[in-house]
Amino acid sequence: MYKLLINKFNAVFGYTGEFIYLRSPGRVNLIGEHTDYNDGFVFPVAINLEIKGIAAKRDDSKVRVFSLDYNELKEFDLKEPVKKENNWTDYIKGVVSELNKIKPLNFGADIIYKSNLPVSSGLSSSAAFELINSILFASINNIKMNKKEFALLCQRAENNFIGVKCGIMDQFAVSVGEKNSAIFLDTKTLEHKIVPLNMENHSFIISNTNKPRELSDSAYNERRGECEKAVEIINGLQPKKIKSLRDIDNKTLNSLENDFTDRIAFKRAKHVVEENRRVLDAVDSLVKNDLAKFGKLMILSHESLKNLYDVSCFELDILVDEALKIKGVSGSRMTGAGFGGCTISLIHNNYIDEFIDTVGKKYEEKTSLTPDFYITVPVNGAEILNKPEE
Ligand code: GLA
Repeated sequence: MYKLLINKFNAVFGYTGEFIYLRSPGRVNLIGEHTDYNDGFVFPVAINLEIKGIAAKRDDSKVRVFSLDYNELKEFDLKEPVKKENNWTDYIKGVVSELNKIKPLNFGADIIYKSNLPVSSGLSSSAAFELINSILFASINNIKMNKKEFALLCQRAENNFIGVKCGIMDQFAVSVGEKNSAIFLDTKTLEHKIVPLNMENHSFIISNTNKPRELSDSAYNERRGECEKAVEIINGLQPKKIKSLRDIDNKTLNSLENDFTDRIAFKRAKHVVEENRRVLDAVDSLVKNDLAKFGKLMILSHESLKNLYDVSCFELDILVDEALKIKGVSGSRMTGAGFGGCTISLIHNNYIDEFIDTVGKKYEEKTSLTPDFYITVPVNGAEILNKPEE
């Protein structure tokens, strides 16, 4: 891949320079959905579907970027105010404007990118693109930050510049990810634990609905608003004030159900509270090698996202239903924000071929869409490489 990038760099920019080699992974969330902006728990994995890039530092503040995926060359200047253009360069501008708040950036770059991480699929291509650019511009402008700080900076870029009020999960996983491991993250304290994924003849298979995600950003922000509303209602009903849905347990929430003035807000809160519990149980079952239990928790998570949180859709439900009919599958659920995107299923390796064949056919029959399937491995978070890999 880097060879291709070097050749293309030469063709696009007309020179070869001293290159900086970059990579940034996507992420898949094993369990813990829509909990991160409620101070809850998540359990994602950085995966080997990645964006790769090479860059050459410039002596001036110009930025020229070429995407091999969009076959498009764009440019802007770090010294001029950046404007949102509703295209892929927004993510670069978003991180650049956040970095500029830390220290004015003097040095731009010529950069070329190529990705095999599908966009708009709930596998965090945006976070991956934010991270790859933030580590590059920080490095060439001599700004030192740790992985957690990079994750937070990229989240601010998404919140402030892109306008999606996302939580910290995606940027954290893409930044902090580790080979062969999942990341158990407490989004309230940002403490995390690296949990080795011992899969014993099992794999996680990702199935992509390939359904274009429509209005997902506004629906996402709406869910967040509903959770804030639930917190307000809870605070009106009991003397003990809470800051977020992390601060209430299931029993207390249930005891307030009859007085809850807003049914939708109650359903959202119930999902979040129960999902947090499921993450803790899932991490525990993985550590104990109890994959059957892990699978059951995935199924419950999907039901809750579908019925209580209303973020699933016809296509995701078909993929989950068909997956659960395959022998060797112990769990399946939508992953990421929802409204399209991907599911993740836990499967015994002997049944993977059958899964791809049968689920693929059934899904096509029922939706007229062709799904994609990925078996990924957990990889390290975004980084500048000393030496280019293959
Ligand atoms: C998106 C957001 C994350 C998280 C998930 C849902 O991926 O970017 O912060 O809220 O949705 O779990």
